[in-house]
Amino acid sequence: MGTYDYKNVKVEIRDGIAWVILNRPEKRNAMSPKLHFEMDDALERLEFDDEAKVIVITGAGGNFSAGQDLKEFFRELDTNPSARRKAAQAANRWRWERLYNYDKPTIAMIHGYCVGGAFMQLLATDFAVAAEDATFSLSEVNWGILPGALVAKVVADAVLPRHALYYACLGEPFDGKEAARIGMVNFAVPLAKLEQATTELAHKLMKKSPNTLRATKQAVRHVRNMDFGQAYDYLMEKSKAIKLGDREDSYNTGLRQFLDEKSYKPTYEPFRLRGDKAGASAEKK
Ligand code: ACO
Repeated sequence: MGTYDYKNVKVEIRDGIAWVILNRPEKRNAMSPKLHFEMDDALERLEFDDEAKVIVITGAGGNFSAGQDLKEFFRELDTNPSARRKAAQAANRWRWERLYNYDKPTIAMIHGYCVGGAFMQLLATDFAVAAEDATFSLSEVNWGILPGALVAKVVADAVLPRHALYYACLGEPFDGKEAARIGMVNFAVPLAKLEQATTELAHKLMKKSPNTLRATKQAVRHVRNMDFGQAYDYLMEKSKAIKLGDREDSYNTGLRQFLDEKSYKPTYEPFRLRGDKAGASAEKK
């Protein structure tokens, strides 16, 4: 593992989980250009860091993020179009291109405020867990702007049109329970249990074959924009592609453990990966 030495971002890798923490607590983790450059760099490197199996995006000091920095990202760059473009490119690269297509599973862990531009990383991650008392707000309408970059798009894709219109047009805050109800996050838990619930989800994901997981998340994302014929063809080819380079030989291992060894039931649990002890001893048989 290299060192991840940044000013506006903290990276802590523990037990396979890379906790990637927006770190401007005094500004409620508002996203400045420097923070975007550091996040972009961190995520690029973590994708190839073998110690990081699952990525959790969260914020320091009890908040997820207060969105774009209204001073450093907006006002100070209003008269500097090339610096704005550079910052916007980095912002969109990590919050969208990288996270949406990330090779490893990603989870957003939301506590405190999640506002405006922070919805990009919230919705680009594969999973999201919120504290019940977190505060979400698409506040852009209150600044005379709309949910730009891709915020309006990701919100419109994630929830029913009435919810998207209501919260984008009113800027009204909602809590973690409401975010779960409308499908903005997977589930909400009391704040005291947030880290534990996120860790449990990460551990469940780590038990799956990384190759199968990666292909499955790509498939679920990409079929949204395909018609039935395209989706059928794509999924057939993707199924074949999973087997190529699958270090776990998941298909044959799963069949053997279920049919011959009677050692697991796929409805409830993943087959044992080579790395885990029970799996390794089964491999030798
Ligand atoms: N941009 C720049 N600075 C910010 C931002 C932001 N988005 N959010 C908070 N800050 C700064 C404040 O200016 C303040 O700085 P100061 O200590 O130098 O005065 C500091 O962070 C703390 O903010 P407070 O407002 O004092 O903290 P509080 O906990 O009371 O409120 C809240 C937090 C609700 C998030 C509030 O700061 C707020 O409404 N911020 C604006 C959020 C927003 O609308 N973001 C969307 C921006 S548009 C976009 O993302 C596309």
